[in-house]
This record gives sequence, structure tokens and C-alpha cells, in this order.
Amino acid sequence: MAKPSKPQTGSSNKMWGGRFTEGSDALMLAINSSIDYDQVMAFEDIEGSRAHVNMLVAQNIITKDDCAAILGGLDQIEVEIAEGRFEYSQELEDIHLNIENRLREIIGDAAGRLHTARSRNDQVALDFRMWVRKRTAQSITELHDLIEALIVQAENGADQPMPGYTHLQVAQPVTWGHHMMAYVEMFGRDLTRFQDAFERMNECPLGSAALAGTGFNIDRFATSDALGFDRPTANSMDGVADRDFALEFLSTASICALHLSRLAEELVIWSTTQFSFVRISDKWSTGSSIMPQKRNPDAAELIRAKIGRINGAYVALSTIMKGLPMTYSKDMQEDKEQVFDGAASISIALRAMAGMMSDLTPNFDAMRKASATGFSTATDLADWLVRTLNMPFRDAHHVTGAIVKLAEDNGIDISELTLDQMQSVHGEITADIFDFLTVENSVASRKSYGGTSPDNVRAQITAWKERLA
Ligand code: ARG
Repeated sequence: MAKPSKPQTGSSNKMWGGRFTEGSDALMLAINSSIDYDQVMAFEDIEGSRAHVNMLVAQNIITKDDCAAILGGLDQIEVEIAEGRFEYSQELEDIHLNIENRLREIIGDAAGRLHTARSRNDQVALDFRMWVRKRTAQSITELHDLIEALIVQAENGADQPMPGYTHLQVAQPVTWGHHMMAYVEMFGRDLTRFQDAFERMNECPLGSAALAGTGFNIDRFATSDALGFDRPTANSMDGVADRDFALEFLSTASICALHLSRLAEELVIWSTTQFSFVRISDKWSTGSSIMPQKRNPDAAELIRAKIGRINGAYVALSTIMKGLPMTYSKDMQEDKEQVFDGAASISIALRAMAGMMSDLTPNFDAMRKASATGFSTATDLADWLVRTLNMPFRDAHHVTGAIVKLAEDNGIDISELTLDQMQSVHGEITADIFDFLTVENSVASRKSYGGTSPDNVRAQITAWKERLA
């Protein structure tokens, strides 16, 4: 939770005011400061400073005494922040200067040595990268949980028929398990996208300094290792100017949110009285203040909406970054709120969807009934004509169309026509055909790789469980 900062005006800034005689305009403080939101990176900032100062002493750039004093002060600040006792000030602009200023209050002049061979440009690039990296890892875990919930659903209904749709018109029967596993594939791709993004972002910008690197004999590999990065960034200008890691996080989160919105939309449709394919549990429904019978799928609707904010954050950040010359510009301070909001949104959407899917009760009776409507096995009839009578598919399509019309005129399903009625359309049809017109047989026959047959679905489930283990 962000703590309100103290606005201040007056004399020149104590962190960088050496060549200034006047203080900032109050509105300048307001537009310039980021402390009200970048304080969420406080622990990343402290961790980065610890790694930096440990490296500085190992390289004989600062003394052991100064290093010990700085580390002690950082420990105290960490506690103050964790306990909500830290006083943030707007005049001190951002989390970096707030912490450094407090360090000076606690340990005195030695605090000034912490910033040796470092700039706020590489400092903020580091803190933000560590924050985004943490949230990328969190998204991977949350996706894992959602995929597991979907697999449990798939397993429970691997052989339960439901209507498969195109254009939201009944097309061919599929199984509930197959439908659930379609989402597992989508979220599985999101998971690998987050993993790929994680690997690419896992390079440490610390030591890029302002933009050009530093003349001090620093060890960037040591700080990179200490902070859990794979390697330091290879170009100091890119190190301070790059925000791709945040853009990749948001673009990946956008695609994931898009997938969530499609599943959420299906839940909204399936839970209507007209469909009644699923019951969303009480835990994930809300009532209406005026209509006592209502059970509203609010969580699903809100998940459906989150894409707006997340994709909005991506568009905002890419627009902020567009056209910025090398290297750092203050525009880049506007990178954070978007990403913080996007991260909060994707996290709550993923967790709510996992919870809702775990508690969801499918109504297999309703789905089975619906799967036999809309002449959903007409393709099976056409396929029988092709296979048994060696008819070209286009002719079979035509014959089947006539049979569907006959059934429609009589107000019955094609499986309810008599053999005589079938033969009135095509004389060579035999009673054998009726075995192919039930939804169970239809789904069981679709054994092509990736098809909806229950055996295929079970094989997919097994493969996914192995992948997740
Ligand atoms: N608060 C700043 C940001 O978020 C930190 C970097 C400031 N660097 C500078 N050269 N003014 O971008």
C-alpha cells in the first residue's frame, strides 16, 4: 500500500542541488516526483544497493568500515519500510533518493559513498527490472495453478459430450475434456511466453552507470551473480535505456488476458439459464439487490474486462518509449504505474480464474442434450456416405443436406429418421448408418491426432501432467 509522501518546498534539493540556488516550484515537485508509486520497489532498491556496496568493497573502491556502515543502515531502513515507519518525502523525488537520504541521516557521510560508480539511471533500470522479473515469475506460478485446475476439469469430463461451436452455432459434438484442454494449450503458450521473457530480461544493468559505464574498477559480473541474473547487460547505453523487459511482460500479459477473457465469456454464456452448462459456485457469484433469483457471474465478467487495462498499459508504455533518443529521458519515469497496474490486473485475473474453475460444476446432462441438437452429427452422416458408399465428399454433403432438411421438416433429429425416410433421399443407405449418428460415437470416432475422441483427450491430459511435473 502506497504511503502518502510529504510535499516540501523551499531551498534547493539536498540530493542534487549543488549548482541550484532556488528550490523547485510546488507543481514541479508534483510532476517530477515518483515516490508515491515507485516506493513499491523499495526492497529491490535495497537489495541492489547491498550488491553494489559489497562489490565496491571487494574491489577496494570503498573501505570495509564504510561498507559495514552502509549495510547496517540499509538493514535499518529495510525494517523501517517493512514496518510502515519510513517517512517518504516528495522533494526527494523517488525511492532511490529517499532511501539514500535516510541512509545519510542514519550513518552520516559514509552514505555518500554508496553512489560511487552508480547513477540513478542504472539504479532505476535495475530496480524496475528486478520488480518485473519477480512478477514474471509470479505469473508463471499463477498460470501453473490455472492449468492444473483446467486439467482436473478435463479429466472429470474427458468423455462427456458437449456441443462444439463455430460462429456460436452448434457445429459438431466435442467433449468437455477437449474444450478444457483447448484452454490448457492457450495458457501453456502463455506460460512459455513468460518463461522466454524471463530469460531475456535476466541481464543486470547495474554498473552501466549514467550511460557510458564508469572509470572505477567495478565487477559487473559479481553484482549480476549476487542479484541472480544470468549476466550483465553488454552495452551500458542499452542498459539504462532499455524497457523491453517491461514491454514484453505487458505484451505477454495482454495475450494471456485475452485468453482469460475468452474463457470468461464462455463461463458467462454457459452459466445462463438458457445454456445451463455450468454452475459457478456461490463463492464466485454475486446476487442482485433487486432480483432475488439472480446469480451473476461478476468474477467472470471482471476477468473478461481486465484485458482492457492490461493491453492499455502495453499501449501506454510502448507509446511512452516510442521515439525516445538514447539513452535515459525522464519520460521513462512514466513506465512504472502502467506496469504496476498491469501486473496487479493479470495476477488477480489468473488467480480468480483458477479459483472459479476449481469450484465450477459442469452440468453434463445439459451439455449432452445440447450436443445432440442442431443436427450436430450431420458431418458423421456425410463421412459414412464417403466411407461406405465411396461417394465424393461434395456429393455426400449434398445428400446429407437433403436428409437434414427432411428431419427439420419433420421436427426431429437425423438420428430419429426411419431407414425408409433415409432411403427416400438415397437408396443405398443401410441401417448401419444409425451407429454413427449418436454423439458418443461421433466423438469416439474423431481419433485423428489432436481430435476430440476421449482416448486422445486422456492422452493429452497425461502428456500435460508430465510436462507440468
Ligand atoms: N525516478 C526516476 C525514474 O523513475 C529515476 C531515474 C532518474 N534519473 C535521472 N537522470 N533523473 O526514471
